[in-house]
Amino acid sequence: LKWMDPLKMGIAYFQRFPDERTPVWGNPCSDPRHLEILSSDFNCSQLALPNAVIVGPQKTGSTALYAFLKLHPNVQSNVENNVTYEEPQFFGGKAYLNGLDWYLNQFPFDSGVEGQQVLFEKSATYFDSPDAPRQMNALIDEAKLIIILINPAKRAYSWYQHMIAHKDPIALKYSFAQVLAATDNDSERKLWKLRQRCIAPGRYAHHLDRWLEYYSPNRLLIVDGEQLKDDPVPVMNDVQQFLGLPLIDYKQLLKFNEHKGFYCSQAEGNKTKCLGKSKGRGYEPMGAELTDSLAKLYLQDNIALHKMITKMGWRTPRWLQEQLVKLS
Ligand code: A3P
Repeated sequence: LKWMDPLKMGIAYFQRFPDERTPVWGNPCSDPRHLEILSSDFNCSQLALPNAVIVGPQKTGSTALYAFLKLHPNVQSNVENNVTYEEPQFFGGKAYLNGLDWYLNQFPFDSGVEGQQVLFEKSATYFDSPDAPRQMNALIDEAKLIIILINPAKRAYSWYQHMIAHKDPIALKYSFAQVLAATDNDSERKLWKLRQRCIAPGRYAHHLDRWLEYYSPNRLLIVDGEQLKDDPVPVMNDVQQFLGLPLIDYKQLLKFNEHKGFYCSQAEGNKTKCLGKSKGRGYEPMGAELTDSLAKLYLQDNIALHKMITKMGWRTPRWLQEQLVKLS
């Protein structure tokens, strides 16, 4: 290949090794070869990478957890952007190709992670992404990861409602029962795709397996998203402990808002600041028949999740115990 000009050489190389087309961003400050090619004003002591990440999945209460964690005085989070709002969606997503500088710019300039300080981000798209665990590990292998799980049947229905609220034509055309009944052979391909988006992220053990390839079990905290919704204070205590934060009293920071029907942050003058309209939407409950058929659909996944949780020494969420007792 020596006689080739560099551009042709590059093309030939990636034809031969197509898997290497996507770069893998590592921490430049822990690799002497990278340090050598960084510009002289790149200051490694100011490199602020997150030491904690809420990885999702979507529709489990991840935004509530993000908002509650941000109330802690020792915690800083990523800044919002105009496209994906509070989520950088870097690992496993399109933004990954924007490069490391782009990711670093998602965090406040003055953020530091010394002592009992936490710098974190939340992107609920990471959980079921095939590439996110590997890409995240290449950059922040020491980070602590938080995974928030609810009954996957409820998650599936919440996703369907999310698509209705976003006026997705397929969700508007078909009932949830019709979406669940879709098959791979359906002429309406988008119907099958919507079914997959409802169902696939809820196969929790399958996705967790991939995270465990890259992170040891003690770097992962499984949060019960249903408990976070109904009784957030003990959950926030567990989260603080896991992150090594000085314990603050979340009873003083969170208050149930009757109108919203959810816990919200305390604001001045005995008021509360709740999440926006898109979080905690009001819609018809799922109905007994669909609840049962989804419980059956997820039974094997839930059994596998329970086995994994027991083996890893994590705490079993109450909703999971209830699902397994119901169908045993
Ligand atoms: P619904 O809108 O379907 O009720 P995520 O932030 O991961 O997308 O999750 C959204 C879900 O968080 C909401 O789904 C809601 O049920 C749940 N949730 C839990 N605690 C909440 C809170 N304090 N405020 C609003 N929504 C909350």
